[in-house]
Amino acid sequence: MKHKIFAANWKMYKTPDETRQFFEGFKSYSSQGEVVFFPPALCVDAALQTVKGSKIQIGVQNAYMKAEGAFTGEISAAAAQKMGCQYVLLGHSERRTYFHETDEMIGQKLNFVQSLGLKVMLCIGETLDQRKANQTEAVLKTQLEKALAKADPKNLVIAYEPVWAIGTGVNATPEQAEETHQFVAGWLEKNGYAGTPILYGGSVKPENAAQLMEKPHINGFLVGGASLDPESFKKICAN
Ligand code: PGA
Repeated sequence: MKHKIFAANWKMYKTPDETRQFFEGFKSYSSQGEVVFFPPALCVDAALQTVKGSKIQIGVQNAYMKAEGAFTGEISAAAAQKMGCQYVLLGHSERRTYFHETDEMIGQKLNFVQSLGLKVMLCIGETLDQRKANQTEAVLKTQLEKALAKADPKNLVIAYEPVWAIGTGVNATPEQAEETHQFVAGWLEKNGYAGTPILYGGSVKPENAAQLMEKPHINGFLVGGASLDPESFKKICAN
């Protein structure tokens, strides 16, 4: 049986009130897989309070590589853990592009977060130019090598998100996704991370989730836009 994970990346959407409202409509829903939400940092407390007693897990969308200190504006994974978070999302393409996160920084953050015993969902993915230039595998290999140099295989999930599919409405076809997932699974196996779940992300919607999930190397999804509405995300989590 596949280990299925359905993850919601809310990016910078929703207020604490809207978060509570969302979970009032979602928390009684039960999926066969793990369900994880990454609300904006200011909504994490509202999310944790509202999902109490359910199996829903909550995480932060980013965290710094130190527990505390003079790092204005950053998010402490140690504080998130004390609040009740179980996951940290790292390496999202928006963090890499807009906030100039390098593979090295992502690796340092990953090591620190895992040292606390938290689970990391590591995002990797190629741009359209890189795909067109046949560099997809080389790009993913570098991202994996640098981030996972000293990682703990137990607390790890990979999210493959082709940058050209994020928020564009153009998802990778199930065949394209499967081919890349197979490559990632092969790399993970060779490097001591066999069995790590690999999620697909990039314009996942209720309409395309079932076909993607049929592929053997796709363990679930990291969903942006379609996770903001409880009914739409429930349909995705039903796969
Ligand atoms: P999207 O975003 O589902 O809106 O394409 C996915 C993501 O950025 O994680």
